Amino acid sequence: MVTPIRWRTSIEGWIWQNSIDLVVYRFSKTLLFLVCLLPAAGLGWQWWHDRLGANPIEAISKDTGIWALRLLLVTLAVTPLHRVTGWHGMMRYRRMLGLFAFFYAVLHLGIYLWLDQFFLWEEIVLDIQERPFITVGFATFLILLGLAVTSPRAIVRRMGGRRWQSFHRLVYVAAAGGVIHYWWLVKADVRNPLFYALLLGGLLAARLLYSRWVTALLHRSGRTISI
Ligand code: HEM
Repeated sequence: MVTPIRWRTSIEGWIWQNSIDLVVYRFSKTLLFLVCLLPAAGLGWQWWHDRLGANPIEAISKDTGIWALRLLLVTLAVTPLHRVTGWHGMMRYRRMLGLFAFFYAVLHLGIYLWLDQFFLWEEIVLDIQERPFITVGFATFLILLGLAVTSPRAIVRRMGGRRWQSFHRLVYVAAAGGVIHYWWLVKADVRNPLFYALLLGGLLAARLLYSRWVTALLHRSGRTISI
């Protein structure tokens, strides 16, 4: 039998545990937010102190582009890591990571439109039509825009979980677009884009293997599900 004292103790324990969880969650999210801002802050600091080298615009353009791609891959790594480690709390950070990938893509595009092309829209349209790596970069940016716009919880509810999930699989297409964009712009040494291509290949393979494994399990038990 549960005595009133035991009952009160367990309620207090529950409140205490939940308060700790909330504080840890808020603190870790703020910390991650600040960590994701570090590359932008670093660029701002180097720009302010004139440390961006002979071509600061190129340096900022390259840095923001590479961080957009890195954060996109980190976002894609969250689900497989959650499956391997079983740490469900990790999924809470996925949206923020994805939005930061978009943030760096916005900076990257902003630099191109402003400091590279001086907002000369005719030139920009010609550039998108004539240089394949810019065409792919532009298409990738549009996908990221679509993913960012549909990321608020209210839109997830309105779209419905399944439809939202299928749409958000486009994040793999965006990551592939980022890698192709990078590959096509480097002239000779493809080692860096190859590294990101291999990472993406690994993440895709992990996803395919997992969905095959779950499908096989469900097949055995006579049920179906979309992963
Ligand atoms: C309209 C959209 C985009 C345009 C116009 C664009 C343009 C460019 C340009 C001009 C460069 C060469 C920078 C230089 O060497 O001076 C570049 C590099 C790069 N961009 Fe983009 N980009 C776009 C979208 C994206 C997106 C969405 C991503 C990532 C998902 C991305 C990732 C990169 C990467 C990784 C580099 C190479 C950085 C390096 O060399 O270290 N770009 N981009």
